[in-house]
Amino acid sequence: MSAVIQQQAGFDVEAVRAQFPALHQQARGQRLAYLDNAATTQKPQAVIDALAHYYSHDNSNVHRGAHALAERATEGYESARDAIAGLLNARSREQIVFTKGTTDGINLVAAGLAQTVLKPGKAVLVSELEHHSNLVPWQLACQRSGAELRWLDLLPDGSLDLSKLKDKLRDVAIVALGHYSNSLGSIHPVAQIIDAAHAAGALVLLDGAQAMAHQPVDVQALDVDFYAFSGHKMFGPTGIGALYGKAEVLDALPPYQGGGEMIETVEMAASTWNAVPYKFEAGTPNIAGAIGLGAACAWLQSLDRPAAGAHEAELLEAATAAVTAVPGTQLVGTAAAKTSVVSFVADWAHPQDIGAIMDQAGVAIRTGHHCCMPAMAKLGLPGTVRASMSVYNTSDDIAQLGDALKTAHRLFA
Ligand SMILES: Cc1ncc(COP(=O)(O)O)c(C=O)c1O
Repeated sequence: MSAVIQQQAGFDVEAVRAQFPALHQQARGQRLAYLDNAATTQKPQAVIDALAHYYSHDNSNVHRGAHALAERATEGYESARDAIAGLLNARSREQIVFTKGTTDGINLVAAGLAQTVLKPGKAVLVSELEHHSNLVPWQLACQRSGAELRWLDLLPDGSLDLSKLKDKLRDVAIVALGHYSNSLGSIHPVAQIIDAAHAAGALVLLDGAQAMAHQPVDVQALDVDFYAFSGHKMFGPTGIGALYGKAEVLDALPPYQGGGEMIETVEMAASTWNAVPYKFEAGTPNIAGAIGLGAACAWLQSLDRPAAGAHEAELLEAATAAVTAVPGTQLVGTAAAKTSVVSFVADWAHPQDIGAIMDQAGVAIRTGHHCCMPAMAKLGLPGTVRASMSVYNTSDDIAQLGDALKTAHRLFA
């Protein structure tokens, strides 16, 4: 197929691409078209260098050592916190808690609220489209606290049914919602939902795992109470992420885990807690990961975000056209507001079989339920084929996707 992506003014995709070593390889003997960015993104050289530099020069524990390396490690770790606060436009650096990733951040909040505001008579509101990471922690929190779990219904186009939002918000202590859907790409009207939730006296947590790599996120403009995300989905390392929280809500939350660093004083029978954010950072943290995440934040800030966004919008359009050009395919997720994710099924093959043909053609995509089993059940699907684009993808990647899909059609239809 001949998807032509026009170069956005001020956006040089080849220059971006050149910074990602892993993109320049063959897979199964073919040119690699990496279209599994919703699962994890590739890493720019700047992030790889930051990790290597830390381990080659500064490796030490943070906050506790009285020596030069410990000072440099601490400086790198805390500078990364500044970089995240800057990227999110947080009011202060103390509002950024390092976590293992989105899952960890959501569990931290859910476990804390289960000990405080969640109780019988109170509810948690999620949606049917949540990633399991933003559903199962709330199931646990509700089971432990006696609170009720409620959800917004998923509509066939991949958007959420907000018609009963006001009713569903009654007695809700927290609304926990994906900012962008990983499985269908839907972008939810979070500003409207946050306003309604606050008017009803509820807190709001956004699962930002998918949004961070695709648009600038301003937590103050969103007026969101918690924002959780993962480094590895925004060009940073795995095993590191961050949780933003408003100062007063973080202060009110009990510690998640006990151990070193999170304490102020320890006696045999009881302890007192360190200040936020350290209260939530028990044990030796993922120092290298944090430094790598800081480098990813700096890398993202060096991008022309509007031009990158326009480039991704073109990729979405081209990928949608490539998929729908093949007979018997059906898009899953056609909400008006969508990120660069194309999920689809075909009436001539199971998603896994299509995935296998794509793999042989060097096209890296994902098939299955995408950790959204309730959404797939609602849509009556075993799963989908998902191509998820990022800022470094090109028209060649989309052409390769289209060609591989045509091959699968020839073989199976
Ligand atoms: C929307 C969404 N939420 C949460 C997660 C979990 O992220 P992690 O596994 O990095 O904790 C993912 C990962 O796929 C996701 O896409």
